[in-house]
Amino acid sequence: MIVKLANGQEIPVELHKTRMVQKIKLIPAEERLGAITEGGYNTFQLKTKDIFLDMLTDSGVNAMSDNQFAAFMNADDAYAGSMTFYEFADAVKDILGYHYVMNVHQGRAAEHLIAKVFGKPGGAVITNYHFTTTKAHIEVTSSSACLELFTDEALKTKSTHPFKGNMDIQRMKDAIKKYGKEKIGYVRMEATTNLLGGQPFSMENLKAVRKVCDQNGLLLVMDGSLISENAYFIWKREKGYENKTIAQIVKEMAGIADLFYLSGRKNTSVRGGFIATNRKELIEQLEPWLPFYEGFYTYGGMSMREIGAMAVGLREMVDPSVAGCAIEQIKYFVEKLDKMGIPVVTPPGGLACHVDARRFVPHIPKEEYIAGGLTAALYIASGVRAMERGTISTDRDRDGKELFADLELTRIALPRRVYTISHIEYIIDRLKWLFEHREMIKGLKFVTEPPVLRFFLGKLDALDNWGRTLCDAFKKDFGESW
Ligand code: F0G
Repeated sequence: MIVKLANGQEIPVELHKTRMVQKIKLIPAEERLGAITEGGYNTFQLKTKDIFLDMLTDSGVNAMSDNQFAAFMNADDAYAGSMTFYEFADAVKDILGYHYVMNVHQGRAAEHLIAKVFGKPGGAVITNYHFTTTKAHIEVTSSSACLELFTDEALKTKSTHPFKGNMDIQRMKDAIKKYGKEKIGYVRMEATTNLLGGQPFSMENLKAVRKVCDQNGLLLVMDGSLISENAYFIWKREKGYENKTIAQIVKEMAGIADLFYLSGRKNTSVRGGFIATNRKELIEQLEPWLPFYEGFYTYGGMSMREIGAMAVGLREMVDPSVAGCAIEQIKYFVEKLDKMGIPVVTPPGGLACHVDARRFVPHIPKEEYIAGGLTAALYIASGVRAMERGTISTDRDRDGKELFADLELTRIALPRRVYTISHIEYIIDRLKWLFEHREMIKGLKFVTEPPVLRFFLGKLDALDNWGRTLCDAFKKDFGESW
């Protein structure tokens, strides 16, 4: 809920209260330098005991509701035929309108099965933009090319375009002509496009994609990991939807796709995932592989507790105060930074505040991992763990050539219902200090580099030992104990 203060300022106010807390602490800068050095300047390698605000991701770390915890206790544990699964299937039917559903252990497991069954080796998959695990499965599991057919607006980090996650319809038609429709495995639309900075697509665009799919007999797959946020943006930004409910918009979006999957770790605030459809022949093609890779079809690799909580999470995610809780915090965060001249992705998106590292540290050459440097620097200056979403997160091509990312972003994720405005104010202050000292931040070089999804386990080092210089400057301004 947005509340207008007497001074005219608007602030997001949560429509929930906190009934359980976890203690966190801020270790001094010197110790933070030690931790990031030991972790190879890779924030995935930090331990939570060394982290003040964990904004690595919004995945699997959102606060669950009291009713979700109650569902944990009520879950019916059974290897096969659990009633909890059938209650979950009812929630999928009610909220998304799908009659067939299968659980998987998380989003990438859905991507694996879909790429395996519907991918066309030697062909291509068309998408509005990739996610790291999606691209890996399209390329590795289905041996296909991943064609990202976003619009010109998508890569402009400073923009007012309300739907930067749109597919470019002309590029889509051209790609189908070029490859031949029989070579296209499927078309994938990702809601609240993660790697573009949490940017939504419009309902109008989704319908246009559907039309092209119909004209060419192509399967439309929706990645709905962030569907309720995309629906919230449609509600706020698209003409004709202002008087609809989030629940109606979510159902309309889902009704347009042939096949739907999500990572339940995001909008439903649990750990798991699922694939759903109304087309029996599609689920029948996937079904034989489910026990092979995931588990029996009434649990699919998840615990019954999580499936029960996921059913509740699905019903709750269409409440505007849930769908919009991170979005409104992010808007507050991004607009404040933008006003201060700190380069961030605009308009504000879902899931995170994205700092545009190319504009923040323009002196770092692209070969030296721009966003990787900034993400490590933010940790040293604040104890905040963000995530590099740039070239480190983009694997080399098959010949070992570096592929430079379209965008170099430091993603400061907002787990839902976890952090407060005072936490955000703290980060804004430390980012301001970092911006004033940005010349000190330099690039990184790999020390150990895994061949696939290298951002998880890769270890890097700071060029010219810049972490030391930055830490010393920080201590001079803030003292030894911060
Ligand atoms: N699709 C999208 C849009 C995602 O954001 C993610 C995960 C996945 C699929 C894969 O799901 O993790 O359950 O296997 N995003 C997380 C993130 C990891 O940090 O943004 P998963």
